[in-house]
Amino acid sequence: MQPDLVVSNICKTFSSGRSDLQILRGVSLSLSSGDSLAITGPSGVGKSTLLQIIGTLDQPTSGTVSLFGEDPFALDAQSQAIFRNQKIGFVFQDHHLMPALTAIQNVLLPALAAGTSTAEQYARAKELLEAVGLSGRADHLPGELSGGEKQRIAIARALLLKPKLILADEPTGNLDPVSAKSITELLLSLQKQENFLLIVVTHSLEVASAMGQRLMLA
Ligand SMILES: Nc1ncnc2c1ncn2[C@@H]1O[C@H](COP(=O)(O)OP(=O)(O)OP(=O)(O)O)[C@@H](O)[C@H]1O
Ligand SMILES: [Mg+2]
Repeated sequence: MQPDLVVSNICKTFSSGRSDLQILRGVSLSLSSGDSLAITGPSGVGKSTLLQIIGTLDQPTSGTVSLFGEDPFALDAQSQAIFRNQKIGFVFQDHHLMPALTAIQNVLLPALAAGTSTAEQYARAKELLEAVGLSGRADHLPGELSGGEKQRIAIARALLLKPKLILADEPTGNLDPVSAKSITELLLSLQKQENFLLIVVTHSLEVASAMGQRLMLA
């Protein structure tokens, strides 16, 4: 059977004015559910760009991506947005929570984006808050939570629709070492329970060594 994610010979060039900036030069990888990958490498090498391409938020200049048997770049914009919403969860360095919404409302955002907030999803949101250790904070606003707690809410939100792929770009980049360790452990324990494919971009050796595989861009 074909792996869930097959990236073949991805190149990315940004053209600005007269100069071309060649960032990714032939990146290939193939991963399946339950796998975890750390993408590492110096600043500016193209880690976020690669993550954005895998997440269908940016297009490669050449090369192909096959995600769960589909070519996401062959889909029209609307189908691609639906595909992304249902199959991929994103976690960023900044939590990107909506400041005026409570923790549980933030967790429910992907359902609202898909236009279907059901009782089942509300139950799932509550379950996820418990899984990330914040069941007592459901009605708190992001401003009332610590950095690590906000990141836990962001992880719960990423998992709401049971995506098969989680993409995290420096998820512990803004956290102290203790919170960073517990966020990494949380991601891996949730992965064990839900069996998604996990890709984490990180500058941290600790985070990278906790993942099953490593891709170093240079
Ligand atoms: N839209 C864009 N237009 C032009 N250049 C871009 C664009 N997006 C990214 N770049 C450039 O591509 C290079 C790679 O950027 P990227 O954000 O992928 O790096 P990174 O490896 O994630 O770095 P960091 O570790 O600092 O986050 C950088 O030189 C960046 O300036
Ligand atoms: Mg980056």
